[in-house]
Order: sequence, then structure tokens, then C-alpha cells
Amino acid sequence: MKADYASLNRQLSGLLAEETDVLANTANFVGLLYSEIPRINWLGVYVLRGEQLVLGPFQGKPACVRIALGQGVCGTAADTLQTQRVDDVHTFEGHIVCDPDSKSELVVPMSIDGRLIGVLDIDSPAARRFTQDDQDGVESLCETYLRSVSEEIRRSGKFI
Ligand code: SME
Repeated sequence: MKADYASLNRQLSGLLAEETDVLANTANFVGLLYSEIPRINWLGVYVLRGEQLVLGPFQGKPACVRIALGQGVCGTAADTLQTQRVDDVHTFEGHIVCDPDSKSELVVPMSIDGRLIGVLDIDSPAARRFTQDDQDGVESLCETYLRSVSEEIRRSGKFI
């Protein structure tokens, strides 16, 4: 089964429309994506705090809390500001193992006004789980999420 990203995007817009609290909207963003994207075992947000990514709202097993910029798949996405789509995590030098069941990974950097605020990380127990279609779909979900929280983040000057 494939994710229907267009429909998911509409659901996400509706879910986040009425609320301005960034933590609540991030928790629901993560909850919706985890329940609707098939064949994944972990999905969550790492928040940029200084020079480190710190674990934020997620679904799945407990995960490593702090990741330095440039470290692992998440730190590489944060450092390069490029989505990382990894078919086989065992071939990614420096990959950080949180759940040994994870075989492939998709990490999308998230920025507001050109400043990185964190990353969205998705793990799958299947190798080569994420296609270009998944990457495009998840990037567009991140854009929808960022549109909904950006005003409050600009106003408050902080993410979570
Ligand atoms: N595998 C990630 C670490 C985070 S977990 O997968 C939840 C990485 O290499 O950055």
C-alpha cells in the first residue's frame, strides 16, 4: 500500500488550521504521518538547539536524544540542508542506530526564513522503502506543517 500524499496534505492542513500552539501542532503532525505512512517503525522531529539536534515529538521506540550537526543521517541533513534518502542505513557512514530493525531512512531538514529549526526523521524496517515520490510527498507535508507553525515561531522567537 502507498501513502496518498495529496489526501494526507489536505488532512494535515485541516488538523493544524485551528490551533496555534507549536508543540500541539508538532505532536499532531507526527501522529498523523506515523499513522498514515505505511511500513515505517519510527517517525519524529529533532529540534535544533544550539549546535545539536534534540529529540522532540515522535512515535516509535525511545530514540537517541542528542545528535551533533554533521553526525548520522539526521545531522547530515541538518548540516547540508539537503533531504537525505538512504536506501540501506548500513551503508551510510556514521549512521546512528536507534532501533536495530530500521533499514532505510528519510530525513527532511526544516527551515523558516532560511534558518534551520530541525529535521523530520522517518525510519522503515524495509530496505529501499522510500522512493522519490515519498520524498516529494513528505517534503510537501513538511512545507504544510511549516506554513502552519511559522507565524507563531516568528512571533515567539522559539520553536519548541
Ligand atoms: N538514524 C538516525 C538517528 C535517529 S533515529 O533513527 C530515530 C541518524 O543516523 O541520524
